[in-house]
Amino acid sequence: MPSPILPLDTLPPVAALIGGRWVETPQKLAVEAPAYGAALSHIARCQSAEVDAAVCAAHQALVGEWFDWTARRRGEWLAAFAVAVEADQGRLAALECADTGKPMNQARSDIAACARYFRFYAGGADKLHGETIPFEHDFTVMTLREPYGVCAQIIPWNYPAQIFGRCVAAALATGNTVVLKPAEQACLSVLRLAELAVEQGLPPGVLNVVPGLGSEAGAALAAHPDIDHLSFTGSPETGTRVAQVAAEQHVPTTMELGGKSPQLLFDDADLDVALPAVVRGIIQNAGQTCSAGSRLLVQEEIAERVLRELTTRFEALCCDVGEADADCGPLISAAQKSRLEERLAEAQDSGVRVLARGYMAEGASTRGHFVVPQLLTEIPDGHPVLREELFGPVLAVQRFSDEAEALCLANDTDFGLCAGVWTQNGGRQLRLARGICSGQVFINNYGAAGGVELPFGGVGRSGHGREKGFEGLRSYTRLKTVALHHG
Ligand code: NAI
Ligand code: MG
Repeated sequence: MPSPILPLDTLPPVAALIGGRWVETPQKLAVEAPAYGAALSHIARCQSAEVDAAVCAAHQALVGEWFDWTARRRGEWLAAFAVAVEADQGRLAALECADTGKPMNQARSDIAACARYFRFYAGGADKLHGETIPFEHDFTVMTLREPYGVCAQIIPWNYPAQIFGRCVAAALATGNTVVLKPAEQACLSVLRLAELAVEQGLPPGVLNVVPGLGSEAGAALAAHPDIDHLSFTGSPETGTRVAQVAAEQHVPTTMELGGKSPQLLFDDADLDVALPAVVRGIIQNAGQTCSAGSRLLVQEEIAERVLRELTTRFEALCCDVGEADADCGPLISAAQKSRLEERLAEAQDSGVRVLARGYMAEGASTRGHFVVPQLLTEIPDGHPVLREELFGPVLAVQRFSDEAEALCLANDTDFGLCAGVWTQNGGRQLRLARGICSGQVFINNYGAAGGVELPFGGVGRSGHGREKGFEGLRSYTRLKTVALHHG
């Protein structure tokens, strides 16, 4: 079996990045390799003192050398950083694979996506501008797009490197400084990316990283009186708490809180294309994806065939450690595994049927936090497996008779992040694109291969605000109106 322990010289500093320096904390947190249930490394355990110092450094950086960097210079730095990330892809992917347990090919594509965010926002840095507004003849009125200042970013463990790219690149492109609180369960790639940023000459204090627990470093950052913007990605419960704390100080927030996204499969769909995409949409990252397609709505006429073919596909899904590049890796932690298993046991007690399961690779680590992919049918209306984000490789299937019922079921959720619609009927494609309540709708595809360029965000319990795409740049600026009376 391959060793879960990475060579020591690939591990990033066990410290926080504050004001351009790596600062050790009195206490550390152990991080584990979830595929092996074994120790991997340690990270710093920041408390409010370190968070305070990081916010202070980010404030100072706003008026330092960074202030003198033009938009073009920021763009040039971001582009150079993208190249540095690509050059370090092997090491970054190895860290991401060991730390999150995800398959190595997924880890590599996550690092590539991280670099793409930096390259995309590099190009955007000097192309975002205000407008002039026709008003009275003796006035010239314009809008300026200004950075907020210090951006607090609290991110999760499922896609550390990608979400680092999404949040940090957009905030820096627009001239902000950042204090980032990565997730305690997985943040080695983020620390390595921060190390690369220092090596690439980012002025001190522009990017600060404070690893630690949500209840300590996270809570201290969200409540800090000197932050100017807060973006949070994670669970609705923690998001609600963080947003309440931010509201006390009128700090604007972007909230990305997951989903229960439906895939709508009509009887005229091209199943050869749709079914592999439906499977990928739920097993990617072992289902621990905010935009996972976790509900399948299938039209009655094709339901039997679809379930038969999905059974074959699910039974062929193999779980193994990341290095084996199987279909599915482990869940992130023992806690996430037992949480999911409890919900699945409750579901079966209430009559839900597990129609098909994947399997564990022979000889695979038994200490890893694996849950095999599962296909659920015969689900009572309104059951929690249709409503709650399970965050595992579990697909819940429902049937519908016509378009109206499909739309009704699709929207029967408090969430609204993504949806997939599979039909050849053009009118139906457009009606559903407009009718479904979610931030993204994909027609005859699901996820557009990640789509760095495509604005992304939620409706309802999935959160608010948009990241990714050009819209992500706007989200990191505030608008100022200047009215000049010149007579
Ligand atoms: P979480 O929402 O508690 O953690 C996300 C981030 O928030 C982490 O960096 C964490 O340290 C931080 N955090 C936690 N408590 C905080 C607080 N009081 N103040 C400030 N920051 C805080 O999610 P967790 O506990 O890791 O996972 C639980 C469930 O959340 C998962 O099963 C899944 O359903 C959902 N989740 C959804 C994600 C998504 O991308 N949609 C990502 C991670 C979790
Ligand atoms: Mg880990």
